[in-house]
Formats: sequence, structure tokens, C-alpha cells
Amino acid sequence: MAPKDDPSAGATPEDEGVNVSRRAFLKTVGVTGVAAGVIGGPEADAQTSTSAPIGPGEVPITLRIDGKPHQLKVEPRVTLLDAMRDRLDKTGAKRVCDRGTCGACTAIVDGRAVYTCSMLAIEAQGKEIRTIEGLAQGTALHPLQQAVVEHDGTMCGFCTPGFVMAAVALLEKHPKPTVEQIRDGLDGNICRCGTYKGLLEAVLETGKGVSRG
Ligand code: FES
Ligand code: FES
Repeated sequence: MAPKDDPSAGATPEDEGVNVSRRAFLKTVGVTGVAAGVIGGPEADAQTSTSAPIGPGEVPITLRIDGKPHQLKVEPRVTLLDAMRDRLDKTGAKRVCDRGTCGACTAIVDGRAVYTCSMLAIEAQGKEIRTIEGLAQGTALHPLQQAVVEHDGTMCGFCTPGFVMAAVALLEKHPKPTVEQIRDGLDGNICRCGTYKGLLEAVLETGKGVSRG
């Protein structure tokens, strides 16, 4: 289940001449209020909006994460990922590529899987943000989390939160996904440890679309 955008599977962005870092780009647009929200796999989407210039200094914002409002101040260029990890101590979403290619930073925003490294925090205001930290109910794991454990869908675990959030978004859209739908839904996430088979089985079992062989 190799992701379509796995650089190791083909040409790298640099090979294709795309060598401007996402962070450098965000720094140049921070004061204009322009942002890109990148969503993994076939759910991929891009949002562009404009507003009156703000910043470049910190501005007060409120982020609603896992059902709770959080008030903080950030510069307009700060990504949702950095705001959550560095300001709110929510470190479930991981920073790996930091340029919208690996999926380790995936959270669910308004019901859709989003690369939080590629969405500005200010653009996430007014949206329902769900993270891996909010998935379990007390000590009871989400059924998908439990299935990932049972199917050995994790090794080092660094990609796992992103995979789980992408899979939860997929299951909420397709409660009984086919193998093809799972592959498409998770193709924006990369696991360097190669846990794709276990993850696929875990999503299948959770959706009960196909019984275990
Ligand atoms: S860290 Fe966001 S996609 Fe890789
Ligand atoms: S479990 Fe190690 S990167 Fe996926």
C-alpha cells in the first residue's frame, strides 16, 4: 500500500523542480492572511481565502480542539501543527516532513483529514479540530486504535497518530470501506517502518467491510 506521493517511490519534489520550502512560502505570505489547507489522499483539497492584512506580530486566536476552546497568541505565519505542539502541548500530531507529503501531522478538521503542517493556525479558527489525544474515551481506545494494536499496525509509532486520524476520517465517510477505498484514503500517509498491511487489516476489521482472512 505504497502512498502515491511517497518520494521514495518516484521523483522527489526537488527532481521536479519544486524546491521552495513550504515554511519559506508561509513566511512570505504571513501578513496577507492567505493559507493553504492540505488534506491527504483522495480527500485532498485546498482552501484559499483572503482577509484584511494582519500581523506580522502575534494575534489572539481561539482554537477549538477535541471539543474544548483554547485561547492563544500566534504570529499569522504559525501553522496549526506548531500552534498545537509548541503552544498547547498537544504533541500527538507529529512533524516529520513539514511540507505536506508524509501525513504524520494529520488531524481531522471539520470532518476531513488535514495536514496540519500546511494549515495556518489562524485559518483553523471556528473549525472543529480533532486530534489523536481526543480519540479514546477515558481508558477505552477507539475501535480503530484497538484494531491497530491487535493487527501490529505500529512499530516505531511515529506515523501512527496521523494514520489513525486519516483512517478515522475515512471510516466516518465510508463506514464499511473497501480495500480500494482504504488504499485511496490512506495514500497521503507514509510509514517508513512498513506497517501498511497491519493498518489495512485494522481499518478493514473496524469497518467490518471484509472479515479477516
Ligand atoms: S509533517 Fe505534515 S505532512 Fe509531513
Ligand atoms: S511505525 Fe514507524 S514510521 Fe510508521
